[in-house]
Amino acid sequence: MDIDDAKRIAGIEAANFVLSGMKVGLGTGSTVKHTVVELGRRIKDEGLEIVGVPTSLATERLAMEVGIPLIELSDVDSLDIVIDGADEYDSNFQLIKGGGAALLREKIVAQQSSAMVVVADDRKQVDVLGAFPLPIEVTPFAYMTTVRSLSHLMNCDVSIRIEEDKPLVTDNGNYIADAQTGPSISNPVDLENEILQIAGVVQVGLFNNMCDAVVLAGQNGISTHFRSNGRLS
Ligand code: 5RP
Repeated sequence: MDIDDAKRIAGIEAANFVLSGMKVGLGTGSTVKHTVVELGRRIKDEGLEIVGVPTSLATERLAMEVGIPLIELSDVDSLDIVIDGADEYDSNFQLIKGGGAALLREKIVAQQSSAMVVVADDRKQVDVLGAFPLPIEVTPFAYMTTVRSLSHLMNCDVSIRIEEDKPLVTDNGNYIADAQTGPSISNPVDLENEILQIAGVVQVGLFNNMCDAVVLAGQNGISTHFRSNGRLS
């Protein structure tokens, strides 16, 4: 099975967590897009009745294309579940997210969800977070000041993500700083809190104590792993 097949099968498997009547957070990325397409198929073919909250403009477009009715997060108290991708996850189910620059909306949606399912391929599973550069959403105002503060805090190179020779602009009008910490984030909870002290930081792509299950795609097929004492176990 090649990696694209694995992502598709995992994405479809993760959609099984969704039941009629649910309010569903719809994540962003090349893996969870298969979940969104599958939910659209189940709405059409099986009469699944759900409403969705997309975590990015790209997912909003896809959800509309496949026929998922959308609501505003601010119009409801909470969501039943969010299904999303990840760039890395460790044995405690702590995550790095934001490779697709959608981390702010993804985190707002995840915080309002009663459960979080991550869909990933097995390259994302790590012992210690940080080989994947840690994405941090920052204000355009004085962004180089923020980059220097982040670099000083983490003692590593931090660079602004560039797209077509210009800083990439997120759906929220901000920039993304990527921190090359290396696989050294052994205490992601403390690091998240320290990064959030810097005024120019809008949000950081560390998702701590949020993920309840991972649907994992590997060479040998699909497996689902539940966090012990998580909200789905
Ligand atoms: C976007 C994300 C994505 O969920 C993450 O980058 C994983 O994406 P993919 O499934 O394409 O590898 O956090 O901000």
